[in-house]
Amino acid sequence: MNYQMIENVYLTHHKERTLAHVKEVAETAVRLVERYGLDMEKTRLAALLHDISVVMTPREMHALAVARGMDIDPAEEKYPFLLHQRMSKMIAEEKFDIHDPEILSAIECHTTLKKHAGMYDKVIFLSDKLSWDQQGVPPYYDRVMEKLEESLDAACFEFIDYQFENNLLLMPHQWIKEAYADLRPPMCADMADIAALTQLRLKYLQEDLGKMDEDTQARLMIDLPLYFEKHLNRDIFCYLIREQGEAVACAFLLVTEKPANPMFITGKCGTVMNVYTEPAYRKRGYGKKVMDALLQDAKNMQLSYVELKSTEAGYLLYRAVGFEDDVPQYHLMKWYNR
Ligand SMILES: [Fe+2]
Ligand SMILES: [Fe+2]
Repeated sequence: MNYQMIENVYLTHHKERTLAHVKEVAETAVRLVERYGLDMEKTRLAALLHDISVVMTPREMHALAVARGMDIDPAEEKYPFLLHQRMSKMIAEEKFDIHDPEILSAIECHTTLKKHAGMYDKVIFLSDKLSWDQQGVPPYYDRVMEKLEESLDAACFEFIDYQFENNLLLMPHQWIKEAYADLRPPMCADMADIAALTQLRLKYLQEDLGKMDEDTQARLMIDLPLYFEKHLNRDIFCYLIREQGEAVACAFLLVTEKPANPMFITGKCGTVMNVYTEPAYRKRGYGKKVMDALLQDAKNMQLSYVELKSTEAGYLLYRAVGFEDDVPQYHLMKWYNR
């Protein structure tokens, strides 16, 4: 692809300012991808083309979206300029013969991002925000750059969080809401979360064991908060995902220290418990997220291994985060204090 052809489109439409902006985005993006080993050419193309629809007015964008029978988000209906990301994709595909799905995807969501965003999507999204076309340094610049040291996901979340926090999105596009939920990092629960942990434990137990009688439930509601007060962040660590302040997914990691042996040389082992997502929040990858956070902490705490008992429903998730089948060499036995 001849970059000059792209530049000429901006120039013939007297969009010198946008051209300067997309070139700056390309430079930022190329610097970013060096860290992640992505393709420079693809990144540069996506960056240079991301605002190519500047040649259209918002009214023309809306008319074309209607003519093409595109699903129009309520936010795009109210602010047709938001369609410019999807229009740029259309121009890239139809006028510049770009068919690489990663390039097209990155152009298509450079303003709002979207759920399950790929690496190129995130790089172009962030580069666009970091190379803004207004005077001075963006007010979110430092906090996004700081998060970038951690990960692309953390930086993307930080920018979206900044927008929601400051009410900058009067009518958020569905895609940005989904990206926000998708990128939200799990947090490690503290004492302020004991009521939420108790509820999630009860819900998990009821789903796992069936409805419990009122006496048992009443007893657990007293005992569980006492347990968490005594053990939380000492020998049990709980990972939570919140949506609008509500804890909706969790996983617990129980850490036990035993006399070391060659199989657990650090003497410290983990047991996964209570992996649970509220029914309305399933199929969003929250189970994987809390498990990833839990296993990262397990590494940091130098646990020799982490074990769990999986239901059929959870098996594929645990395989996906690295668990393997364990063949017991011994008889599993238990003594009950009856
Ligand atoms: Fe844009
Ligand atoms: Fe842009």
